[in-house]
Amino acid sequence: MKFLIPLLSLISISFALFEDTTPPIEISGNKFFYSNNGSQFLMRGIAYQEETAQAVNSALGYKDPLANITECQRDIRYFRETNTNCLRVYAIDPTADHEECMQAMSEAGIYIIADLSEPTVSINRNNPEWNLDLFDRYKAVVDDLQQYSNVLGFFAGNEVTNNRSNTDASPFVKAAVRDIKKYIEDQDYRQIPVGYSSNDDEDTRIAIANYFACGSVEDRADFFGINMYEWCGESTFRVSGYADRTEEFSNLTIPIFFSEYGCNINRPRLFQEVGTLYSDDMTDIWSGGIVYMYWEEANEYGLVELNSNGEIVTNDDYDNYRSEINNISPNYATRSEVETTTLTCPGSSESTWRAAVDLPPTPDEAYCECHSRSFDCVVNEDLEAEDYGELYGLVCAEIDCSDISVDGTTGDYGDYSFCSDRDKLSYVLNLYFHDQGGRVDACDFDGKASLNADAQSSSSCGLGSSRQAAATRTVNQIK
Ligand SMILES: *[C@@H]1O[C@H](CO)[C@@H](O)[C@H](O)[C@H]1NC(C)=O
Ligand SMILES: *[C@@H]1O[C@H](CO)[C@@H](O)[C@H](O)[C@H]1NC(C)=O
Ligand SMILES: *[C@@H]1O[C@H](CO)[C@@H](O)[C@H](O)[C@H]1NC(C)=O
Ligand SMILES: *[C@@H]1O[C@H](CO)[C@@H](O)[C@H](O)[C@H]1NC(C)=O
Repeated sequence: MKFLIPLLSLISISFALFEDTTPPIEISGNKFFYSNNGSQFLMRGIAYQEETAQAVNSALGYKDPLANITECQRDIRYFRETNTNCLRVYAIDPTADHEECMQAMSEAGIYIIADLSEPTVSINRNNPEWNLDLFDRYKAVVDDLQQYSNVLGFFAGNEVTNNRSNTDASPFVKAAVRDIKKYIEDQDYRQIPVGYSSNDDEDTRIAIANYFACGSVEDRADFFGINMYEWCGESTFRVSGYADRTEEFSNLTIPIFFSEYGCNINRPRLFQEVGTLYSDDMTDIWSGGIVYMYWEEANEYGLVELNSNGEIVTNDDYDNYRSEINNISPNYATRSEVETTTLTCPGSSESTWRAAVDLPPTPDEAYCECHSRSFDCVVNEDLEAEDYGELYGLVCAEIDCSDISVDGTTGDYGDYSFCSDRDKLSYVLNLYFHDQGGRVDACDFDGKASLNADAQSSSSCGLGSSRQAAATRTVNQIK
């Protein structure tokens, strides 16, 4: 019987596609490792996402970089020439078929690290939420990409908090990390790591890395990327700031890497930082980096462009990068059993870091729907979403709207805060209606709301997940 166990585990891992050429990458301590042989994996990456207006699919609002095999094959030649083992993609269409591109990438030894958001469905630093729409989008991307062994990881956010003025947005991103990790586990998918990609803001960079890396394994990010533009032109490990950053992140308990790099103040870019990034000065702390970016566009960060015949034309940046990246000879660590260490979360009272350690609740569709059926007063179907704001303003001036509000600084999140904007509006209209003793004229709002004769009891809706968590805590304390 004993022999059955390894046999079964062999069967279960063979489900993922493309294992042979791209065995899954796993994390141990602060490093990535190949799962087949325990050798360290350092990213030699390129950001791969076209944003020019003519390329963008007008219905989608972005262009999926992994949906057209002709284009993937056209570009793989250049990825091979630059010894690329990883591409960062910023927005994919979860309904498109990625199999051909993923297979071609796998055959070239290339892994994909994918952002889960897309331009119009992403966590907004000025009005942060972690809600049903976002969770659905994130889940759809995971559902599609999880089948490929060459998916290296997912970013739950990119530069959401970008300075001291919006650190309250980070709890929402960390809740996304938590919920996507749980989703992957619940679906019995391969344990694909989930992390965050940060900007390099001097006030917040240390606290935000600690914030995402801290706490329980269930809640914390699996890795941390930082978009790094400190080394410009000719520089050195010390002068560039790389030495200071390496020292600052030396105690981080999860992998850290440059999720973008390549300062373009001086062009052509020399890419002399490449030699340093993959040297012993850095590879114990950093897991390599991702050059920003493949396509030359208006922002002038590209390595290649398309000519009018639809052919790729490389530039001097490309030549310089190719020569530098092919000239590295890093020392790779080997995987040893590293104990999982935990990091204490940064306090939320510093002048430059004010993000609650308590995270927003998990968006729960059944909970929202159950409650929405119970409202005696609801917003009219034909009211446009852009008119919701005014009505929220009116009602919330009269009654307590904390059930639908969130505050990432204090960690106060309403139980109904993750529901749709329409349901949240009905929620407060209904509250107001009852606050007014159920007077018929308290459910009108100039004809924007009306009574719902089919209202059902909410007694079976259960507790919101934040109250459930609080109840569990209380029960555990009593035990
Ligand atoms: C480990 O496996 C990977 C993927 O097959 C391969 O690229 C790498 O060279 C191997 N490392 C060692 C030290 O054998
Ligand atoms: C795939 O890309 C090629 C080259 O850009 C283009 O000619 C072709 O129309 C694309 N195919 C689809 C289905 O979009
Ligand atoms: C923080 O970033 C936002 C958005 O980019 C910007 O509008 C704001 O001025 C910045 N604030 C500080 C204190 O740097
Ligand atoms: C890293 O940890 C060591 C040992 O605990 C400590 O002395 C050092 O100050 C820490 N470095 C940073 C940058 O936090």
